[in-house]
Amino acid sequence: MERLQKVIAASGITSRRKAEDLIVQGKVMVDGKTITELGYKVQPNSEILVDGVKINKEDKVYYLLNKPRGVVTTTSDEKGRKTVIDLIHEDKRIYPIGRLDYDTTGALILTNDGEFANNMMHPKNEIDKVYIAKINGFLTPSDIMALKNGVVIDGIKTSKAKVKVRKVDKETHTSIVEITIHEGRNHQVKKMFEMLGYEVLKLKREKIAFLDLKGLNSSEYRRLTPKEISKLYALLNNKKMK
Ligand code: URA
Repeated sequence: MERLQKVIAASGITSRRKAEDLIVQGKVMVDGKTITELGYKVQPNSEILVDGVKINKEDKVYYLLNKPRGVVTTTSDEKGRKTVIDLIHEDKRIYPIGRLDYDTTGALILTNDGEFANNMMHPKNEIDKVYIAKINGFLTPSDIMALKNGVVIDGIKTSKAKVKVRKVDKETHTSIVEITIHEGRNHQVKKMFEMLGYEVLKLKREKIAFLDLKGLNSSEYRRLTPKEISKLYALLNNKKMK
């Protein structure tokens, strides 16, 4: 039998220290009973709930990374370039959910939970991703309408998007545009602007669903909290039921 805090930490949702805090705070239930005793021994088949959410005992881990520029979003690179996996100290075989280009920065989730990764990426689940693009020039009202309604890239129209011009700079002749999409096609944002004659000079993913980059400098990462994981699961489940 294993100690409760160890089993919780091994599930990947939090550290052992934080697991101890959660136990003491009465947020942990084992087989239907709230357990506040540290070191409580659990059976291998016990059901453990943290904040009301069943933990997965297969050691699932979930990270949010603020990806820097100049790093590839694959698990290995044939050209020997640095990958996002090199940035995270984790012995488990984790992989990124979706891709960000070599020169794109910002929010990226990494996990070893394959089913969760597939669901997060599937366009039918409509997980919003917010990008901030610096482009050359100024969007016209009809360009904004086109981006919102969908642009044909690689022969297929993109889904509806939300678009907001955050800033225009007359001196450098550039604009900062916020665009929210839920698909994840290859180079999608760059291609959408390209189709309308604009070049994306800089691209950052600012948000995935409700997860933003608060507290994470470039190259920094953190584990998702049990609450965040269950909120993402809830989003996915709601979308699936529709
Ligand atoms: N769209 C792009 O063009 N590039 C990215 O990295 C992400 C979305």
